[in-house]
Amino acid sequence: MATFALNCSLFLFFSLILISDAEISSKIGVNYGQLGNNLPPPNLAIEMMNSMKVGRVKLYDANHEILGNLSKTKFQVSIMIPNNEISDIANNQTRADQWISNNVLPFYPQTMIRFILVGNEVLSFDSDKDRQVWNDLVPAMRRIWSSLKANNLQTIKVGTPVAMDILETTFPPSRGTFRSDIQQTVVAPMLNFLNETRSFFFANVYPYFSWAANPMNINLDFALFNGNFEQIDGGSGLVYTNLLDEMLDSLIFAMAKLGYPDIRLVISETGWPTAGDIEQPGANLLNAATYNRNLVKRITAKPTVGTPARPGVVIPTFIFALFDENQKPGSGTERHWGLLRSDGSPNYQIDLTGKESSVEYDPLPVVENNAPFRGRLWCVAARGVDLMELEAAVDDVCGRGDGTCEALSPGRECYEPVSVYWHASYAFSSYWSKFRSQGASCYFNGLAEQTTVDPSNGSCRFPSVTF
Ligand SMILES: *[C@@H]1O[C@H](CO)[C@@H](O)[C@H](O)[C@H]1NC(C)=O
Ligand SMILES: *[C@@H]1O[C@H](CO)[C@@H](O)[C@H](O)[C@H]1NC(C)=O
Ligand SMILES: *[C@@H]1O[C@H](CO)[C@@H](O)[C@H](O)[C@H]1NC(C)=O
Ligand SMILES: *[C@@H]1O[C@H](CO)[C@@H](O)[C@H](O)[C@H]1NC(C)=O
Repeated sequence: MATFALNCSLFLFFSLILISDAEISSKIGVNYGQLGNNLPPPNLAIEMMNSMKVGRVKLYDANHEILGNLSKTKFQVSIMIPNNEISDIANNQTRADQWISNNVLPFYPQTMIRFILVGNEVLSFDSDKDRQVWNDLVPAMRRIWSSLKANNLQTIKVGTPVAMDILETTFPPSRGTFRSDIQQTVVAPMLNFLNETRSFFFANVYPYFSWAANPMNINLDFALFNGNFEQIDGGSGLVYTNLLDEMLDSLIFAMAKLGYPDIRLVISETGWPTAGDIEQPGANLLNAATYNRNLVKRITAKPTVGTPARPGVVIPTFIFALFDENQKPGSGTERHWGLLRSDGSPNYQIDLTGKESSVEYDPLPVVENNAPFRGRLWCVAARGVDLMELEAAVDDVCGRGDGTCEALSPGRECYEPVSVYWHASYAFSSYWSKFRSQGASCYFNGLAEQTTVDPSNGSCRFPSVTF
């Protein structure tokens, strides 16, 4: 009897550990984005994640087909409320309750939903309307949490992923400080909520972007966890061996300054692109494989490494992304973050368990774009694209009355040859060079590509961008 009681309580004890450990395990997760028109169906994608030994999966919505397909799998699942539903939920408990009863109750617990993320990088959008959403963010998180509590579902944690631009100061890490425009109004109430509900601070942390913005001053190997670096933070005396740790600790120091030294971190996104535009340095297979392999080793290491400011603490991590997504707008890297190509074949080998440290990977192609590109680039119509779509794009680019296409008017220097391809190429180059400083990229819904070859002909000079 005594033995039975002992076994029984041991069993309970271990089950409790398993439950809480499941929540904070170091198993690597992936972001399963859906912005592609050529991606495998969810059930196949899930098979792929299975064979890759992915531990958790993060969605950018609460897609019912995927949630259904994830039922009875071993994946822990993170779902997301779109940014445009935040204000409604903040203002109306019924809306929060409806969201939970539509998107959680039909699937839980067969689908192991663990995190509900309210919006994505909400604090990085900055129009008047967006700033209203900033104020609605924490109230919406609280309403979602109330609904969960009402359904006795406190095992599910509520958070919101932020980008590094939530910080005003990041370097050295001990000087980490939140942006002054949101520190008191949004961040402090958010930390209060996360602390009170024992949830996590979700951060999208990309050493790639920090390095790529400043490749002459940040050592690439420091960003790739390569080599023997020691950078000392003069403020804290802590020693850093890689850029990711510095970025994470700048968040930890910023939270501590607001009186919250213990809120756990989740890396909701990190990764490295395998390709990009000509002028985007460092986006290649070798760096992507190196970053993600080293990341996995570090996050899954036993005993747990943690960061200099928080040694030994597990940081649940989601790699961005499962697939290359061909419909992501923006510069070239955006469509090349996948561990897998859109057809499900691997971009490079990677062991996500981190256990087989002896794995010998095949060699990867030699890298030629680690230094920033210097020279001129033009943006022309890509070969082989649909001419009707191209024509529509020309109408769009040239119909704005901003002078982009003046040289294409009949009789002007670029009017001839009168072909859609020629006119589109001029329009793209002209628009890109005019508006690049305001964020325009050479993409045009996949109809454009960069070239180092000047397309100008005769008296028709194509505008270019100089790097
Ligand atoms: C996945 O979802 C689709 C559509 O809802 C369904 O037809 C299919 O049976 C599901 N597959 C599995 C393995 O659950
Ligand atoms: C709250 O939302 C519900 C469901 O959409 C709606 O019926 C109700 O009118 C809303 N209440 C307020 C005060 O807007
Ligand atoms: C954070 O939560 C802990 C545990 O509930 C509590 O003791 C502490 O006072 C909270 N910190 C703040 C700053 O509210
Ligand atoms: C360059 O311009 C000439 C004269 O308009 C034209 O005949 C020729 O086809 C053009 N070449 C290209 C590559 O467009």
